[in-house]
Amino acid sequence: MKKAGICGREIRPRRLRENKNIRDLTRETRISPKSLVLPIFIKEGSNIKEEIKSLEGHFYYSPDTVAYAIEEALSFGVSAVLIFGIPKTKDEKGSGAYAEDGVVQKAVKEIKSRFPEMMVITDVCLCEYTDNGHCGLVRGDRILNDETLPYLAKTALSHVIAGADMVAPSDMMDLRVGEIRRALDENGFSHIPIMSYAVKYASSYYGPFRDVVDSAPVFGDRQSYQMDYHNVREAVKEALLDVKEGADILMVKPAMSYLDIIKEVKNNTNLPVAAYSVSGEYAMIKAAAKAGFINEYPVMCESAVGVYRAGADILITYYAKELSEAIRKGD
Ligand code: PBG
Ligand code: ZN
Repeated sequence: MKKAGICGREIRPRRLRENKNIRDLTRETRISPKSLVLPIFIKEGSNIKEEIKSLEGHFYYSPDTVAYAIEEALSFGVSAVLIFGIPKTKDEKGSGAYAEDGVVQKAVKEIKSRFPEMMVITDVCLCEYTDNGHCGLVRGDRILNDETLPYLAKTALSHVIAGADMVAPSDMMDLRVGEIRRALDENGFSHIPIMSYAVKYASSYYGPFRDVVDSAPVFGDRQSYQMDYHNVREAVKEALLDVKEGADILMVKPAMSYLDIIKEVKNNTNLPVAAYSVSGEYAMIKAAAKAGFINEYPVMCESAVGVYRAGADILITYYAKELSEAIRKGD
């Protein structure tokens, strides 16, 4: 008598791919629109809704028009936004970043007063506000670390006072998470979480974004503070340091070329991991689709799932609205 299972002919992976029902039942990665974050760009001024050329399908808003963007995001099922500001004037100390009536502060107030259900996360950095385009204060050709920290803390605090639900420091100065944590705690905001851009690489994928917010450094580059993309262990070092300083969520950025890093951070910490699929990733899919080389919708879905499969709990993406619909459809 032939023994069952002896030569493995009974084991057939295709059984679980036979039809849509069984594929849906056994799917390993399940995603919710609740895990998506949509970046939004606010320009100082009024009555602005202006297409952003390097980010097709995205618009600049002003604090008085941002409600339209929020309403639309909510209608797509997107429940969290990441706010970036573009000030009218820049200076040496990036004073627009922490001005009480700064562009982000105004926009946050407007959003939270009209749509309290929308989760508002703010990007905390100086590069949109400094005249040299760097993420910190500068002396000669050095980007100063400790001198920058109080300004980052002031910026984060001013966002939270305006009503931000969470702050996301993206500057990559050492020790800034701890400094921001302390400033928030001392001012009665110990309940406000920090999503740290803990693992942020010096990446050429940020190209379109720097056009969008006009934050390209006037001299040099960001390699003395953002990470070298050849490094993996350093990602864990950065992540663990931010955990120690009080980060609540750890971000890896960019996403697509850093799936191994997402996994590494996930496996070496016990915090939620966010991945930022950056402007260059979005632009590549858009451009290739436009040229007729790929099909935008399925590539968007496949690249997003890859990020979740690697271990991300949260995805920050310029496709948040479209992905939210795709997830609802089960794609
Ligand atoms: C600011 C900041 C950048 C991005 C997010 N916050 C640019 C940079 O560090 O140069 C990149 C976002 C994107 O490319 O989509 N520090
Ligand atoms: Zn910056």
